[in-house]
Amino acid sequence: MKISVIGGTGLIGSKLVKKLGEHGHEAVAAALDSGVNTLTGEGLADALKGASVLVDVTNAPSWEDTAVLKFFETSTRNLLAYGADAGVGHYVALSVVGTERLLESGYFRAKLAQENLIKASSIPYSIVRATQFFEFVKQIADYSTEGNKIRLPPALIQPMAADDVASALARIATNSPVNGAVEIGGPEQFRLDELVRRYLTAFQDPREVISDPHGRYYGIQVSEKALVPNDDARLGETRFEDWLNQSTKHAPKTDRLLPVSPLAAGVSAAPKLNSGGE
Ligand SMILES: NC(=O)c1ccc[n+]([C@@H]2O[C@H](COP(=O)([O-])OP(=O)(O)OC[C@H]3O[C@@H](n4cnc5c(N)ncnc54)[C@H](OP(=O)(O)O)[C@@H]3O)[C@@H](O)[C@H]2O)c1
Repeated sequence: MKISVIGGTGLIGSKLVKKLGEHGHEAVAAALDSGVNTLTGEGLADALKGASVLVDVTNAPSWEDTAVLKFFETSTRNLLAYGADAGVGHYVALSVVGTERLLESGYFRAKLAQENLIKASSIPYSIVRATQFFEFVKQIADYSTEGNKIRLPPALIQPMAADDVASALARIATNSPVNGAVEIGGPEQFRLDELVRRYLTAFQDPREVISDPHGRYYGIQVSEKALVPNDDARLGETRFEDWLNQSTKHAPKTDRLLPVSPLAAGVSAAPKLNSGGE
C-alpha cells in the first residue's frame, strides 16, 4: 500500500515513515525539503500519485494567530483537493486532544479549523487526536519561563512518547477510515507543574517551577481536565520515567544549559513544537 506522509521529515513524520516501511508499506515522505509545499500545492500531485492513504503530520512554522490559521486552512484545503484528484481513499490527520477546550489559543483555533475542513470533505478520514508529546515538555517549560522561574498550573496532563504517537498513526493509517476522531494518550497522568519539575531535575536544569493555579499552559488558562483524553483513548506503552532515562543518557551537554526564555526575550509567537533536540 502506498502511503504519502506529508510532513514526513518532522518529529512524528520521520518515525511514521520508518515504521510503515518496516511493515512492508511504500511510505513516501513529502515536505518542503523534498520540493512539496502544501501552501502552494507545488509537488503535491506527484507526491500523492497512486497513494491509497494520505497522512498529514505537517506543522506551521509560525504560531502567530493569523499565520497559523492561514497555514492550517490553506494547507488542508490544498491537501484535500489534491488528495481527491489522486483518488486517495483515507485521509489521516494528527490533531490535539482537547482542541475544543483550548480555543483561547490561536494555535488550537487553527487546529479546529483543520479538523472541520476534513470533516466537511468527501474523502473518508480519521482524525487522530494525541496528547502532548514527552518531547514537547521542554517547550512548555521554556514558554512559561521568566528569569529562573516557571509558573505553571497543576492541571492534569497525560503525555506520550512521539514514538508511540507514530505507532498509533501507523496502525490507524493502515486500517479503515473511522470517519471521526480517535484519541491517543500516554499510560500515566501527571500534574503539569510536577511533570515539568521531573523533566528539569532529570536534565539538571536549575530553573524552579512555581505551582500556580493561575499559571498558563502555552500562554492560555486551562481547566483541570482540559488536556486529558477520554476514557476510551488508546494508550501508548512508554512511561515518562523510562523515556527520561533514555533521553538524558543520549542528550548532548548543551541540552542541560538554561535556555533563553521566550517571555523574557519578548517573543510573542510560540516556537515550533519539537525544537527540543532530546
Ligand atoms: N507537540 C505535541 O505535543 C503535539 C500533540 C498533539 C498533536 N500534535 C500535532 O502533531 C503534528 C506534527 O507535529 P511535529 O512536531 O511532528 O511537527 P514538526 O516536527 O515541526 O514537522 C513538521 C513537518 O511539516 C513540514 N512542513 C511544514 N510546512 C510545510 C509546507 N508548507 N509544505 C510541506 N511540508 C511542510 C516540515 O517540513 P520541513 O522540515 O521541510 O520544513 C516537517 O516535515 C502537528 O500538526 C501538531 O499539531 C502535536
